Amino acid sequence: MNELIDKAKEAAQNAYCPYSKYHVGAALIGENGKIYTGCNVENASFGATCCAERNALYGAVAQGERHFKAIAIFAYSEIGKAGLPLPCGICRQVLSEFCGEDFDIIVANDKESKQFTLGELLPNGFTL
Ligand code: THU
Repeated sequence: MNELIDKAKEAAQNAYCPYSKYHVGAALIGENGKIYTGCNVENASFGATCCAERNALYGAVAQGERHFKAIAIFAYSEIGKAGLPLPCGICRQVLSEFCGEDFDIIVANDKESKQFTLGELLPNGFTL
């Protein structure tokens, strides 16, 4: 999983985050081992911002991938300490569209990393 964290860290460098100064990178690994990355992209109309996790997932889906093993998320801040980047509620819900409860979610910063399953972070998620 260290390779996945390294890819997420690399992606965080591309974050467009002039408002929060909080860089997030995500690296998502597909069932056959291909890695898809994304970063947060902010907007002056704050609600139009898209998180790193969703950008990685949407990019992967656009490339034809629909089955995933794990995601690593890395964050750092230009202005202070960055806590562990636990995915926001919208990203948890979006991940649950494609990933089961055993899907692994690794969150990391420069100091530590922790691993969860999607089932732990989104119990009883919404489905139609
Ligand atoms: N952000 C992510 O990229 N992923 C998350 O799960 C939470 C928040 C981004 C959005 C925004 O650009 C910045 O972090 C501060 O909220």
